[in-house]
Amino acid sequence: MNWLKRLLISLALLLTVVNVRADEGMWLPQLLARLNEKHMKGLGMKISAADIYNINKGSLKDAIVSFGGFCTGEIISAKGLVLTNHHCGFDAIQNHSTLERNYIHDGFWAKNHAEEIPNAGLFVTFIVRIEEVSSQVLAGVTPAMEEKERQSVVDKNIAAVRKNLKKESYQDSHVRAFFEGNQYFLFVTETYRDVRLVGAPPSAIGNFGKDTDNWMWPRHTGDFSLFRIYAGKDNKPAEYSADNIPYTPKRALSISLSGVSENDFTMVFGFPGRTTQYLHSAAVEQVINVNDPAKIAIREKALAVIDAFMRKDEQIKIQYAAKYAGIQNSYKKWQGEVLGLTGTHALAKKKTYEEEFLKRVNSKPEWKDQYGSLVNDLQKAYDAFRVYGKHRDYYTEIINRIEAFTVAAQLNNLISAKEKNGEEGFKKALPQVQNRLEDLYNEYNPAVDKKLFETLMQLFVEGQDAEYISSLPRQLAAASGGFGQLAEKMYADSWLDDGSKILDGLKNDAAALLEKCRKDPMNDLAMALSSAYTEKVNRRLTELQNNINRLQRSYMQAQMEVFKEKVFYPDANSTLRVTYGTVKGYNPRDAVVYDYYTYLDGVMEKYKPGDYEFDVPEKLRQLYQVKDYGPYGQNGKMPVCFIARNHTTGGNSGSPALDAWGNLVGLNFDRVWEGTMSDINYDPSICRNIMVDIRYVLFIVDKYAGAGHLISEMKLVRPKQR
Ligand code: ARG
Ligand code: GLU
Repeated sequence: MNWLKRLLISLALLLTVVNVRADEGMWLPQLLARLNEKHMKGLGMKISAADIYNINKGSLKDAIVSFGGFCTGEIISAKGLVLTNHHCGFDAIQNHSTLERNYIHDGFWAKNHAEEIPNAGLFVTFIVRIEEVSSQVLAGVTPAMEEKERQSVVDKNIAAVRKNLKKESYQDSHVRAFFEGNQYFLFVTETYRDVRLVGAPPSAIGNFGKDTDNWMWPRHTGDFSLFRIYAGKDNKPAEYSADNIPYTPKRALSISLSGVSENDFTMVFGFPGRTTQYLHSAAVEQVINVNDPAKIAIREKALAVIDAFMRKDEQIKIQYAAKYAGIQNSYKKWQGEVLGLTGTHALAKKKTYEEEFLKRVNSKPEWKDQYGSLVNDLQKAYDAFRVYGKHRDYYTEIINRIEAFTVAAQLNNLISAKEKNGEEGFKKALPQVQNRLEDLYNEYNPAVDKKLFETLMQLFVEGQDAEYISSLPRQLAAASGGFGQLAEKMYADSWLDDGSKILDGLKNDAAALLEKCRKDPMNDLAMALSSAYTEKVNRRLTELQNNINRLQRSYMQAQMEVFKEKVFYPDANSTLRVTYGTVKGYNPRDAVVYDYYTYLDGVMEKYKPGDYEFDVPEKLRQLYQVKDYGPYGQNGKMPVCFIARNHTTGGNSGSPALDAWGNLVGLNFDRVWEGTMSDINYDPSICRNIMVDIRYVLFIVDKYAGAGHLISEMKLVRPKQR
């Protein structure tokens, strides 16, 4: 590259880096009026910020729930009907499925309230109000404090804030850190714990295209499922009871039959999980070169093992479906992330930004004093972290994949509860462990786990530096003649892979079982791996991480001070956010241009009879043939999915996509592969979120499933005639 080209690139980078980038950001709903309303209206929004978030009267936020703590859902009827993704409701769908009554394969539709199925453990949470509590939480915190000390002051202050809070007895509260702990907000919440499954399409619709299409555009998945919130007779939260009644919401979303066109305003309202937008370039470099590659390599091996079993055995296919999808999901996302970060020159952008930061800092003596060494200090801190980060990823990825180790960890929890708190502590911990293990064994096959053990323990030994791991697995493998033989021996000698023995033992004579577990060879290995990890990796890693946290916090504060012209939004932290942007296709690489809409025609183009991923149910093919789309089609076609420039992330699954008037037009469920790096470095040229068109959802409910009674609960509108 010649110098002129380089100069031009860095000038262009600087412009995109320092400007407030259109469509980027996950904004706090209570701050929209101040920070975003003007911009949103400029992009075409017809309602006001107060229509979105208002604590004095009903607003759109009253129709949004955190679904089970991991996804988003929205209320779409006056009888508490909740819409979310198929993959968000999947655990529930899977739990009620058997070989004979396979709701994954066939779908499920309750014909009336009595047929709606309760789901133990599933809950939805409303946000009642949000308040800033930074000054209370940070009272007594000084810059010189060690992280541990700071955290204990913060924790004490948070406890006091929550204790003094005025709220109803059925409400809850939590406080979360924003901007790396520079600000704190309090959330008052209401949680409903009786949430019943109402409907789900067959996987061939709800997860059409499976892993091949996951994270991809063009997309043709009807990724939705329906639930209903039940409340006590007073409409307040209540534990499950047959006497509970459908919840009457403060607000239900109106549903638009008009769809959206290119450049139309959309916003997505939900609970994005975690992003890291303000990292130092050294951290981004490690994501690209160390962490993502390590995790990808491990998951690739694990997926190959599980896939081979699932393709041969229907029972294993049901048991491992959710687990497999979860492992595959991040595996594929990280690959897109590395490509996207590389392709959009994220590192160069970060470095240019750091140079500009330093230039500004050095221009003011008091900034120079306080922030002058930050960029350099962060570089050094991340350099020291590098090797520990890699070994952490190996340890967590591999240990969590081999479920015999999870069983050992659970039983050890019981043992230490007993050692610490005696018989009483033991009794208290027992039911939790029993529940966890029952769930685990329901979705467990010892042959699969044994093969995972063989494959991953070998990688554990060969992929890591000997000085950071226990020497036991290498010794055991050598003694048995290889990892295959070691796996055979371990799973023959150990008890931990035998669900009925373990569960019966816990029920009948837990003390005897725990004694056995203490001497179990699998448990010995788990203990050796874990104590080596604590000693050789985790202790130092925690120190380094604390130092990084402190530096990143100061860097965050400095950026907000130094780049005054920029409007900052906090990283996602599973709190309620609004993101907005326009409907738009994209151009992922030379000569390739993607349209922003897909249609049922595309489902049929992908159709492969009998295929694991691309089969299409007969009924859907018939409806396509006669074009029986009812009021949901458009110009003789059935819209399926669309994309827009909304800045979303994991946790935004199931979030409503709303039009300029706040009507429901789509259901967010994914991002495009080239743009998954938006978690670290949003780029408007290729970052797009993927939504199912709400008309496809209605079409499936009404025409495919014949569940018109659900449609009649909803409020359908046509804000724009075409
Ligand atoms: N990629 C989407 C998300 O992150 C969808 C995942 C579910 N689908 C799948 N085929 N694994 O959750
Ligand atoms: N499917 C993701 C989820 O579960 C949303 C896609 C994304 O990460 O943007 O939340």
